[in-house]
Amino acid sequence: MQVTVVPHAGEITGISGKTAVVIDVLRATSTMVTAFANGATAVMPFFTPEEAKQYYGWHNNKLLLCGERKGVKITGFHLGNSPLEYTGDVVAGKTLLMTTTNGTKAIKRSETAGTILIGSALNAPAVADQLLRLHEDVVLVCAGTRERFSLDDFAVAGLILCLLRERVKLAMDDRARAACLLAESREMRELLLMSNHGQYLVELGFTEDIEYCAQVGKINLVPYFDGKMITI
Ligand code: MLT
Repeated sequence: MQVTVVPHAGEITGISGKTAVVIDVLRATSTMVTAFANGATAVMPFFTPEEAKQYYGWHNNKLLLCGERKGVKITGFHLGNSPLEYTGDVVAGKTLLMTTTNGTKAIKRSETAGTILIGSALNAPAVADQLLRLHEDVVLVCAGTRERFSLDDFAVAGLILCLLRERVKLAMDDRARAACLLAESREMRELLLMSNHGQYLVELGFTEDIEYCAQVGKINLVPYFDGKMITI
Protein backbone atom coordinates (compact mmCIF):
# COMPACT_ATOMS: atom_id res chain seq x y z
CA MET A 1 0.00 0.00 0.00
CA GLN A 2 1.46 3.35 -1.03
CA VAL A 3 0.80 6.30 1.28
CA THR A 4 1.49 9.97 0.67
CA VAL A 5 0.78 13.06 2.76
CA VAL A 6 -0.51 16.38 1.38
CA PRO A 7 0.82 19.01 3.83
CA HIS A 8 -2.00 21.57 3.40
CA ALA A 9 -5.09 22.29 1.32
CA GLY A 10 -3.16 24.52 -1.10
CA GLU A 11 -1.20 21.49 -2.30
CA ILE A 12 -4.04 19.15 -3.16
CA THR A 13 -3.09 17.80 -6.58
CA GLY A 14 -2.87 14.38 -8.18
CA ILE A 15 -5.43 12.76 -5.89
CA SER A 16 -7.88 11.91 -8.68
CA GLY A 17 -9.43 8.48 -8.20
CA LYS A 18 -7.38 7.78 -5.03
CA THR A 19 -8.55 7.16 -1.49
CA ALA A 20 -8.17 10.38 0.48
CA VAL A 21 -8.46 10.99 4.21
CA VAL A 22 -9.06 14.67 5.04
CA ILE A 23 -7.74 15.75 8.44
CA ASP A 24 -8.51 18.99 10.28
CA VAL A 25 -8.04 17.81 13.84
CA LEU A 26 -8.41 21.35 15.32
CA ARG A 27 -11.28 21.25 14.90
CA ALA A 28 -13.51 20.74 11.85
CA THR A 29 -13.10 17.00 11.26
CA SER A 30 -13.11 16.24 15.02
CA THR A 31 -16.36 18.19 15.25
CA MET A 32 -17.91 16.29 12.32
CA VAL A 33 -16.96 12.89 13.76
CA THR A 34 -18.45 13.96 17.11
CA ALA A 35 -21.66 15.17 15.45
CA PHE A 36 -22.14 11.78 13.78
CA ALA A 37 -21.40 9.94 17.04
CA ASN A 38 -24.19 12.04 18.58
CA GLY A 39 -26.75 11.24 15.88
CA ALA A 40 -26.37 13.91 13.17
CA THR A 41 -27.78 12.71 9.85
CA ALA A 42 -25.40 14.47 7.45
CA VAL A 43 -22.93 17.32 7.10
CA MET A 44 -22.85 19.50 3.99
CA PRO A 45 -19.57 21.42 3.64
CA PHE A 46 -19.59 24.93 2.13
CA PHE A 47 -16.79 27.27 1.11
CA THR A 48 -18.46 30.41 2.47
CA PRO A 49 -21.03 31.43 5.12
CA GLU A 50 -23.09 33.08 2.34
CA GLU A 51 -23.42 29.78 0.43
CA ALA A 52 -24.47 27.95 3.60
CA LYS A 53 -27.05 30.65 4.46
CA GLN A 54 -28.48 30.57 0.95
CA TYR A 55 -28.96 26.78 1.14
CA TYR A 56 -30.50 27.17 4.60
CA GLY A 57 -32.94 29.76 3.29
CA TRP A 58 -34.21 27.32 0.66
CA HIS A 59 -34.63 24.23 2.84
CA ASN A 60 -34.41 25.19 6.52
CA ASN A 61 -36.34 22.24 8.00
CA LYS A 62 -34.03 20.10 10.22
CA LEU A 63 -30.95 22.07 9.18
CA LEU A 64 -28.41 23.83 11.39
CA LEU A 65 -25.94 26.48 10.28
CA CYS A 66 -22.54 25.62 11.73
CA GLY A 67 -18.99 26.88 11.56
CA GLU A 68 -16.41 29.47 12.42
CA ARG A 69 -14.26 32.26 11.17
CA LYS A 70 -11.13 33.12 13.16
CA GLY A 71 -12.16 30.27 15.48
CA VAL A 72 -15.44 31.82 16.66
CA LYS A 73 -19.06 31.18 15.75
CA ILE A 74 -20.28 33.03 12.66
CA THR A 75 -22.89 35.68 13.50
CA GLY A 76 -26.40 34.32 13.04
CA PHE A 77 -25.26 30.66 12.93
CA HIS A 78 -26.67 28.05 15.34
CA LEU A 79 -23.34 26.47 16.27
CA GLY A 80 -19.64 27.33 16.13
CA ASN A 81 -16.88 24.76 15.61
CA SER A 82 -16.39 23.44 19.13
CA PRO A 83 -17.01 19.67 19.17
CA LEU A 84 -18.37 20.05 22.70
CA GLU A 85 -21.35 22.01 21.35
CA TYR A 86 -22.41 19.08 19.15
CA THR A 87 -24.33 17.11 21.78
CA GLY A 88 -27.08 14.61 20.99
CA ASP A 89 -29.88 16.93 22.11
CA VAL A 90 -28.66 19.58 19.64
CA VAL A 91 -27.62 17.58 16.55
CA ALA A 92 -29.49 14.23 16.54
CA GLY A 93 -31.55 13.90 13.35
CA LYS A 94 -30.16 17.15 11.94
CA THR A 95 -28.24 17.97 8.76
CA LEU A 96 -25.42 20.38 9.48
CA LEU A 97 -24.51 23.05 6.93
CA MET A 98 -20.91 23.68 7.85
CA THR A 99 -18.32 26.21 6.77
CA THR A 100 -14.92 26.55 8.44
CA THR A 101 -11.75 28.41 7.55
CA ASN A 102 -9.73 25.40 6.40
CA GLY A 103 -11.49 22.09 7.07
CA THR A 104 -14.57 22.33 4.88
CA LYS A 105 -12.46 23.84 2.08
CA ALA A 106 -10.00 20.95 2.20
CA ILE A 107 -12.89 18.48 2.01
CA LYS A 108 -14.45 20.21 -0.99
CA ARG A 109 -11.11 20.56 -2.72
CA SER A 110 -10.57 16.79 -2.37
CA GLU A 111 -13.70 15.99 -4.37
CA THR A 112 -11.80 14.44 -7.31
CA ALA A 113 -10.58 11.61 -5.06
CA GLY A 114 -12.32 8.25 -5.56
CA THR A 115 -13.17 7.84 -1.86
CA ILE A 116 -13.00 10.67 0.68
CA LEU A 117 -12.90 9.77 4.36
CA ILE A 118 -13.07 12.18 7.29
CA GLY A 119 -10.23 11.65 9.76
CA SER A 120 -9.23 12.88 13.21
CA ALA A 121 -7.48 11.49 16.26
CA LEU A 122 -10.89 10.56 17.68
CA ASN A 123 -11.55 8.06 14.88
CA ALA A 124 -7.97 7.28 13.75
CA PRO A 125 -8.13 3.52 14.53
CA ALA A 126 -11.46 3.25 12.67
CA VAL A 127 -9.95 5.12 9.70
CA ALA A 128 -6.97 2.75 9.66
CA ASP A 129 -9.32 -0.27 9.73
CA GLN A 130 -11.31 1.17 6.82
CA LEU A 131 -8.14 1.85 4.80
CA LEU A 132 -6.99 -1.71 5.37
CA ARG A 133 -10.37 -3.00 4.17
CA LEU A 134 -10.20 -0.85 1.02
CA HIS A 135 -6.53 -1.79 0.47
CA GLU A 136 -5.88 0.97 -2.06
CA ASP A 137 -3.20 3.64 -2.24
CA VAL A 138 -3.91 6.43 0.23
CA VAL A 139 -3.44 10.19 0.31
CA LEU A 140 -3.64 11.77 3.76
CA VAL A 141 -4.80 15.34 3.16
CA CYS A 142 -3.86 17.72 5.98
CA ALA A 143 -6.13 20.78 5.88
CA GLY A 144 -3.37 22.98 7.32
CA THR A 145 -3.98 26.60 8.17
CA ARG A 146 -4.63 29.13 5.41
CA GLU A 147 -2.68 27.06 2.89
CA ARG A 148 0.23 26.57 5.24
CA PHE A 149 1.60 23.52 7.00
CA SER A 150 0.25 22.85 10.48
CA LEU A 151 1.76 20.52 13.05
CA ASP A 152 -1.58 19.37 14.44
CA ASP A 153 -2.93 17.84 11.19
CA PHE A 154 0.48 16.40 10.28
CA ALA A 155 0.61 14.66 13.69
CA VAL A 156 -2.74 12.96 13.03
CA ALA A 157 -1.58 11.91 9.55
CA GLY A 158 1.41 10.34 11.32
CA LEU A 159 -0.85 8.63 13.86
CA ILE A 160 -2.90 7.01 11.06
CA LEU A 161 0.32 5.96 9.30
CA CYS A 162 1.69 4.39 12.49
CA LEU A 163 -1.56 2.45 12.98
CA LEU A 164 -1.39 1.19 9.37
CA ARG A 165 2.29 0.33 9.54
CA GLU A 166 1.66 -2.04 12.45
CA ARG A 167 -0.57 -4.15 10.20
CA VAL A 168 0.53 -3.79 6.58
CA LYS A 169 3.66 -3.15 4.56
CA LEU A 170 3.64 0.52 3.58
CA ALA A 171 5.55 2.28 0.81
CA MET A 172 6.21 5.68 2.40
CA ASP A 173 7.94 8.78 1.09
CA ASP A 174 10.04 10.93 3.42
CA ARG A 175 7.10 13.19 4.24
CA ALA A 176 5.08 10.18 5.43
CA ARG A 177 8.11 8.96 7.38
CA ALA A 178 8.45 12.39 9.04
CA ALA A 179 4.75 12.34 10.01
CA CYS A 180 5.21 8.93 11.64
CA LEU A 181 8.28 10.10 13.56
CA LEU A 182 6.34 13.13 14.79
CA ALA A 183 3.38 11.05 15.97
CA GLU A 184 5.72 8.68 17.82
CA SER A 185 7.64 11.49 19.48
CA ARG A 186 4.98 12.72 21.95
CA GLU A 187 1.42 12.28 23.20
CA MET A 188 -1.23 13.66 20.83
CA ARG A 189 -2.39 16.12 23.50
CA GLU A 190 1.09 17.63 23.76
CA LEU A 191 1.47 17.89 19.97
CA LEU A 192 -1.89 19.61 19.56
CA LEU A 193 -1.18 22.03 22.39
CA MET A 194 2.22 23.03 20.98
CA SER A 195 0.89 23.69 17.44
CA ASN A 196 0.25 27.29 16.33
CA HIS A 197 -3.47 26.70 15.93
CA GLY A 198 -3.59 24.90 19.28
CA GLN A 199 -2.02 27.92 20.96
CA TYR A 200 -4.46 30.24 19.20
CA LEU A 201 -7.40 28.14 20.44
CA VAL A 202 -5.98 28.25 23.99
CA GLU A 203 -5.90 32.07 23.72
CA LEU A 204 -9.56 32.00 22.66
CA GLY A 205 -10.42 29.85 25.71
CA PHE A 206 -10.86 26.54 23.85
CA THR A 207 -8.31 24.44 25.79
CA GLU A 208 -11.03 21.91 26.60
CA ASP A 209 -11.63 21.37 22.86
CA ILE A 210 -7.98 20.48 22.40
CA GLU A 211 -8.06 17.98 25.28
CA TYR A 212 -11.15 16.47 23.71
CA CYS A 213 -9.75 16.33 20.14
CA ALA A 214 -6.57 14.61 21.40
CA GLN A 215 -8.42 11.46 22.53
CA VAL A 216 -7.21 8.74 20.18
CA GLY A 217 -9.89 6.20 19.23
CA LYS A 218 -12.76 7.57 21.30
CA ILE A 219 -15.17 7.26 18.36
CA ASN A 220 -15.55 4.21 16.16
CA LEU A 221 -17.00 5.52 12.91
CA VAL A 222 -15.71 6.90 9.62
CA PRO A 223 -17.76 9.53 7.79
CA TYR A 224 -17.26 9.82 4.02
CA PHE A 225 -17.92 12.60 1.52
CA ASP A 226 -19.70 11.79 -1.75
CA GLY A 227 -18.99 15.16 -3.37
CA LYS A 228 -22.08 16.80 -1.87
CA MET A 229 -22.82 15.32 1.54
CA ILE A 230 -20.83 13.75 4.35
CA THR A 231 -22.59 10.75 5.90
CA ILE A 232 -21.70 7.53 7.74
C1 MLT B 1 -10.74 25.31 10.35
O1 MLT B 1 -11.47 24.75 9.52
O2 MLT B 1 -9.86 26.11 10.03
C2 MLT B 1 -10.81 25.00 11.81
O3 MLT B 1 -11.49 23.90 12.10
C3 MLT B 1 -10.68 26.18 12.70
C4 MLT B 1 -11.20 26.00 14.11
O4 MLT B 1 -12.36 26.21 14.36
O5 MLT B 1 -10.43 25.65 15.01
